[in-house]
Amino acid sequence: MNLQRTWIILGTLALLLLVCWSCLKEVNEPLSGVIAEHGMVSSAHPAATKVGLDILKQGGNAFDAAIAVQFALAVVYPSAGNIGGGGFLVFRQTDGTIGSLDFREKAPLKSHRDMYLDESGAVIRDLSIKGHLAAGVPGSVNGMFRIHEKLGSLPMEDLITPAIQLARNGVILTEREAQRLNHQKTDFIQINHHTPSLVRDQPWVVGDTIFHPELAATLIRIRDQGEDGFYKGVTAQMIVDEMEAGNGIITKEDLANYQSTWRDAVVGNYKSFRVIGMPPPSSGGVALLQLLKGIESYDIKSWGFNSKKTVHIMTELERRVYADRATYLGDPDFFEVPIETLVSDNYLSERFADISLNTKTPSESIKNDLLGMVESLETTHFSIVDTEGNAAAITTTINGSFGSKVMVKGAGFLLNNEMDDFSAKPGVPNMFGLVGGEANAIEPGKRMLSSMTPTILEKDGRLFMVVGTPGGSTIITSVFQTILNVIEHGMTMQEAVNARKFHHQWLPDDIKFEPEAFDSVTINELEQMGHTLVPIGNIGRMDAIRVLENGWLEGAADNTRGDNTALGY
Ligand code: DON
Repeated sequence: MNLQRTWIILGTLALLLLVCWSCLKEVNEPLSGVIAEHGMVSSAHPAATKVGLDILKQGGNAFDAAIAVQFALAVVYPSAGNIGGGGFLVFRQTDGTIGSLDFREKAPLKSHRDMYLDESGAVIRDLSIKGHLAAGVPGSVNGMFRIHEKLGSLPMEDLITPAIQLARNGVILTEREAQRLNHQKTDFIQINHHTPSLVRDQPWVVGDTIFHPELAATLIRIRDQGEDGFYKGVTAQMIVDEMEAGNGIITKEDLANYQSTWRDAVVGNYKSFRVIGMPPPSSGGVALLQLLKGIESYDIKSWGFNSKKTVHIMTELERRVYADRATYLGDPDFFEVPIETLVSDNYLSERFADISLNTKTPSESIKNDLLGMVESLETTHFSIVDTEGNAAAITTTINGSFGSKVMVKGAGFLLNNEMDDFSAKPGVPNMFGLVGGEANAIEPGKRMLSSMTPTILEKDGRLFMVVGTPGGSTIITSVFQTILNVIEHGMTMQEAVNARKFHHQWLPDDIKFEPEAFDSVTINELEQMGHTLVPIGNIGRMDAIRVLENGWLEGAADNTRGDNTALGY
């Protein structure tokens, strides 16, 4: 009897211990992304991620997968995925070769400096944001062909076919996609002279299937005729007809002349990490390096994640870096951008010399220009690593959500509103509140300044991280935070992606923050230092990959702020 009782007690204790241990494990276990040995794709949409993964499994490399994902996103994620926009690739091949491709849109040949000003010289607000005049000459299709030529391994046809199938067979809408489409319905109807396929009488709901037969036909022309299937012939004619119907200015010459540009990546070190970033016309690589080099001498690891001191110092750096962005950065084919100087140790120690650890520097004392900032969210980033260790980081955009909202009649795709990324008038903020001047003034054939920051990190000469995000002007600071979250705050890739974020961009002079980013004590402390804090919705929607110590991959997609999905094998 006694023996039986002893066994029962011992058994119960063992069970309790087991339960407690697994509870503790649950609490302490870091939140990990998807772990896989060979390859990983992290993108904004589950169907596009699956397309990329299938290509990797078929033996395609990271660049093949990137091309397939770009075309698939144009179908399944039309708010940002595109063939009517542009973007940037930062790459690293397994042998350590690095570089970048600029397939950013260009200002049409008929554009001119004051095209968004009225007779009194004031900016006509919506002209660079909605409708035909907002569109730059698309670069994405040309970009995909250049990537394929230099880095691809499978036939291009195999990389476009999955997108054609998705467009033909239909895409099942997620809750967010359905809401996005419903939200834009009025604009779609007002801006287009025909009814775009994204509009129907009754509201879209989750689980609905949306078909894109015209887009499928355009993709088939691209598959069969190569880039000429977009920049010449039927599709080009449709774009030009669309321009004529809506007072736009993109011509056949603009389309036939479009060329992407290979550029040297911007490279620098953060501690023992090598940072490989996108050069101008993106401000991303330069600004990110300035920020990382600026923070290097501060012990934010011991100050802690989003503590008063950490947030203050990051804000002070961001204030100065965004002032530089507005002054010095633009398309290097048109404006001499002093890249080397901007990221040099000498310049940066001087630039950051007046930072105080105790009080904020008012933005006016750094530069005396203007203000603004409106929320918008659509651009998309994807990160891919293959089994050889090749890495592709692509950020691609049509700028605002669904771009200019102009769908090319008969061709089934949306045109960008990237012209708003130019400085329409010195000092007048664009839709992201960003100001600029001469460096980013409109000129025919010029590319508008971007904040997109596709980035690759190496550690000890080996691939360490592939990272990027949408978010307009918040892209640079989101990537900055995500890198520090992993390197300094010991987070997993997934935790770093999920972590709540904040943002400062010189003007307006305030810290935007996601409500859960700071506790009330930190908010009070920052306000006492002179900072103004403004809560906003989401900041960042990252898709990132980290290489673990054992060489396996952690794929992290932001499924807290979007439908983003990572898949590996
Ligand atoms: O190139 C840029 O910086 C912008 N056109 C990016 C736009 C963007 O990220 C929109 N929202 N998420």
